[in-house]
Amino acid sequence: MIARRPLIAGNWKMNGLKAEARALAEAMAARFNSVGSVGFDMLLCPPFPVIGTVVGAVAGTGIAVGGQDCHAKVSGAHTGDVSAAMLADQGCQFVIVGHSERRADHGESDAQVRAKAEAALAAGLVAVICVGETEAQRDAGQTLRVVETQLEGSLPAGATAQTVVIAYEPVWAIGTGRTPTLNDVAQVHGAIRAKVARVLSAEAAAEMRVLYGGSVKPDNARALLGLADVDGALVGGASLKAEDFWAIGCAT
Ligand code: G3P
Repeated sequence: MIARRPLIAGNWKMNGLKAEARALAEAMAARFNSVGSVGFDMLLCPPFPVIGTVVGAVAGTGIAVGGQDCHAKVSGAHTGDVSAAMLADQGCQFVIVGHSERRADHGESDAQVRAKAEAALAAGLVAVICVGETEAQRDAGQTLRVVETQLEGSLPAGATAQTVVIAYEPVWAIGTGRTPTLNDVAQVHGAIRAKVARVLSAEAAAEMRVLYGGSVKPDNARALLGLADVDGALVGGASLKAEDFWAIGCAT
């Protein structure tokens, strides 16, 4: 079995004009360059217009860059959309699909998320597939059922630990400063791994990275990242501050 190397991913969302993006990416690159090696992988997912700027700023550091979404098609009449091939062409290695903000703001279904993930794989990108329950679903005791249904509908057939990363992001924890208990995170991550074993294979489940996302900060990162089935974090707000994002990486 291949050991699961932690992945610390920053989702900048709709933040970062060119100068800010360059400064933040350069700050992360400087931290990488100042140490010989680190025990985790780092991924930056900036908005589309500054991807080239960020790719240039982190070149040669080992920091990976990803998109925040992609279209399911390779090209065509889809105004405002970006294909996975375009992201790869810009130097991206990853793309986030199915983030709850996309599912909510753009009505993305599990089937659409799966189509996007398939497009990502076809373009040679790693798909970071997001799942997570709303607060109402949590209160109704539906967390595991919701997450398992999303996984079943979103995972591409033939996905492997090399081509897919899963991010568990409880919707109610995003940007709120609230997080589930460590026991709850452990339970959901365990259920995700068991579901991946049923949908894909035991080998894929054992090797696939499952990230936690939702109000990850330097002060809670060590506890969250210390859980057995948590293989990294998908970080929003704290990824916009170089010091905080680096501290989260160092907590792995
Ligand atoms: O994709 C990451 C995100 O949704 C979590 O955001 O700000 O709670 O870390 P935040």
